[in-house]
Amino acid sequence: MSVLEVKGIKKSFGRVEVLKGLDFSLEKGEVLSIIGSSGSGKTTLLRCLNFLETADSGTIAVNGKVIFDAASVKRLKESEIRENRLHFGLVFQSFNLFPQYSALENITLAPTLLNRGTPEEIKAQATALIERVGLSDKTDSYPCQLSGGQQQRVAIARALAMNPDILCFDEPTSALDPELTGEVLKVIRDLKNAHSTMIVVTHEMEFARNVSDKVIFMSDGVIEEMGTPQEVFLSPKSPKTKSFLSKDIEAV
Ligand SMILES: Nc1ncnc2c1ncn2[C@@H]1O[C@H](COP(=O)(O)OP(=O)(O)OP(=O)(O)O)[C@@H](O)[C@H]1O
Ligand SMILES: [Mg+2]
Repeated sequence: MSVLEVKGIKKSFGRVEVLKGLDFSLEKGEVLSIIGSSGSGKTTLLRCLNFLETADSGTIAVNGKVIFDAASVKRLKESEIRENRLHFGLVFQSFNLFPQYSALENITLAPTLLNRGTPEEIKAQATALIERVGLSDKTDSYPCQLSGGQQQRVAIARALAMNPDILCFDEPTSALDPELTGEVLKVIRDLKNAHSTMIVVTHEMEFARNVSDKVIFMSDGVIEEMGTPQEVFLSPKSPKTKSFLSKDIEAV
C-alpha cells in the first residue's frame, strides 16, 4: 500500500488553473523530488497536500485512507482538517521559526499544545531531535542567534516532532548561502537513510539526482515527466524536460 496516493488534483486561482490534474503516489521510505520552473505549481501542490489550500478536485489518500476528497471537503469539520494535516510535516524556504522561543521551545511547542506526552517526554524527544540535526549546543539559542542553516535544521526537527507520515520541504536551501546548503541537505540525506518518506521541492539538481527515488518535473501545472532520477535526468522523454535540464546545466 502506498503511503501517499494523489489523484486528479486541480487548483485554480480565479480563472487561472495552476494545477491541472495531478496523479502520483509515494511508497514508504521513498524520497520524491519535485523540480520545475518558477510558477509551475510546485508550492501550490505542497500547500494543497498540507491543507493550506483547498484543491478544487481530486483526492488525497494517506496509508490507504482518503483524507481529502474535493467532492466532500466542505463537510469536514475544522478539527478533522487539523487532524488530517498532521499526516504531513512542512518545512518552508524561509524557516518560519517563532522568534520569541528558543530552539528547543520551537520544537516542543506543537507537541505540547496537542498533548502529545508529558512535558518530560516531549522535552526528551525534542532534545533527541535537536541532537539528530546536529545542534545539541544550540538548545537554548533563539532564532536570531542561529545561522540560516541552523534555523532550517531546527525547523526540520520541529516538523519531525509531530511524527508526520510524510515530510514536505519547499526549497529548503534556496534562502541559504552555498556553504550552509550542505548541512541542511546532509540532514535530509540522513533522514532518507532512516527511511523517512519525503517530498522535496528543490532547485538542487545534484541533490534531486543523488538522493531521490522518484523525480517529478512539473511544467505549467502538469506532471510533464515522472520517473527514477536515471530516467528523468539521463534520458528525459519530454522536450520540455530536456530544455529545463539543459538550462540548468548552463546556469551552473
Ligand atoms: N494565492 C494565490 N493567488 C493567486 N495566484 C496564486 C496564488 N498562489 C500561487 N499563485 C499562482 O500560481 C502559480 C504557481 O505558483 P507556485 O507558487 O505554486 O509556483 P512554484 O512552482 O512554487 O514557483 P517557484 O519555483 O517560483 O517557487 C503562479 O502563477 C502563481 O502566481
Ligand atoms: Mg514555490
